[in-house]
Amino acid sequence: MVEALRSLLGRDKITVAAAALEQHSRGESYDLAVLPEVVVFPEDVEDVVGVVRLAAERRIPVTPVAVNSSLEGQTVPLRGGISLDLTRMNRVLDFRPDDLQVTVQPGVTYPQVNDHIRRRGLFFPIDPGAHASIGGMVSTNASGTMAVRYGVTADYVLALEVVTATGEVIRTGSRSTKSSSGYELTRLFCGAEGTLGVLTEVTLRLVGLPEVALAARVPFPSLSGATRFVTALIQAGVPVARCELVDEGCIRMVNDYQSAGFPEEPTVFLEFHGNQAGLAADAVLAEELAQEGGATAFEGSPRAEDRGRLWEARHNLFYAMLAAHPGKRNITTDVAVPISKLPEAVENAQLVCRRAGLPGYVVGHVGDGNFHVIIFYEDKESARVEEVSHLMVEHALMVGGTCTGEHGVGLRKLKYLEAEHGPSLALMRAIKRAFDPDGILNPGKKLPLGL
Ligand code: LAC
Ligand code: ZN
Repeated sequence: MVEALRSLLGRDKITVAAAALEQHSRGESYDLAVLPEVVVFPEDVEDVVGVVRLAAERRIPVTPVAVNSSLEGQTVPLRGGISLDLTRMNRVLDFRPDDLQVTVQPGVTYPQVNDHIRRRGLFFPIDPGAHASIGGMVSTNASGTMAVRYGVTADYVLALEVVTATGEVIRTGSRSTKSSSGYELTRLFCGAEGTLGVLTEVTLRLVGLPEVALAARVPFPSLSGATRFVTALIQAGVPVARCELVDEGCIRMVNDYQSAGFPEEPTVFLEFHGNQAGLAADAVLAEELAQEGGATAFEGSPRAEDRGRLWEARHNLFYAMLAAHPGKRNITTDVAVPISKLPEAVENAQLVCRRAGLPGYVVGHVGDGNFHVIIFYEDKESARVEEVSHLMVEHALMVGGTCTGEHGVGLRKLKYLEAEHGPSLALMRAIKRAFDPDGILNPGKKLPLGL
């Protein structure tokens, strides 16, 4: 296979070097590591077609990857084969500011897209923790801090170019921002985790940069005070642009990591986007609700440097936590519940951590009812950690939520799909078979199916 790939693509797009295989054996948080047999770096769609055709002929598994910041094992080449590293396909192909659209290759990161389009007053408002690639973000339907206002990645994908499991190039969607034509294949690829095709081109819808923005730090004496405030804020219809919960332990780590100097209390980080008058009204309403909810302060600021400091702290959070726990394993749980159930879901998560004797840091995109409990642990605590994650998911499903709000299924959440989707899982399996009859695309992920 390696020789065939070399003669197809040339030597410099293929490696079997131990360090590269190792680097492509696992993601950022999920511990399982499996070495691929070869790592391939395609540079254009023809390269991808060549690799997938060869893989299809020989029934070799292909696992697409780019930045490799996924947290649930999506990029682990579970059955060996080819790790298809798309990082060299990182160009912005066509920026069309008059249509508020950009077409990019999958390996470009979202900060790179924003650097490219900002000069025309536009931005792509999906903002996960890692500097993720657009291909990866589409493939997990990533969201992050601004989904509460702007929606999730799938809401911004207008069109795709995809290499199918047989090595055919197809296009889905159009440049129209709406369509009632055909089945919505574009949306199907969003969140498919590389199991239905390899994305080679993504057309994104963009939005205008807000005229003004205001950020606020709102500390509470307790985590439940903070979650109740968030629920009240969303129920009041305040059009908040970001609404993040960060517990006191996380604040401590961020303070250590980047000398943020924030008071170490459970805190809601807020941001408002709009025009001057609207912003002022939103902030007044939010502050009133915060006071009613027992907040100890409402530290608002329109200054770019204060906002920058706040969101940099939030962005660095996961990496600040990793730095504070060298040598430990970690799990980043990820559930989402309807907003009215947020306070009880967070309380339940804290309770199950306490019962398991594990310290869990609570952080999340709580305006969406989406939160994480991040746990650092030793090998011998694995079973208890798994139990905590399990009880959180069980509770989320019981109250009408989902087993993953943004990180995706990967490997860890496979066991919950039956409970969450019931009989519709059979249709999902039929879709997978229709797209990938031989099961070569990222096998073993996303759906529990013995393909
Ligand atoms: C975050 C990642 C872990 O919220 O989803 O920082
Ligand atoms: Zn998150």
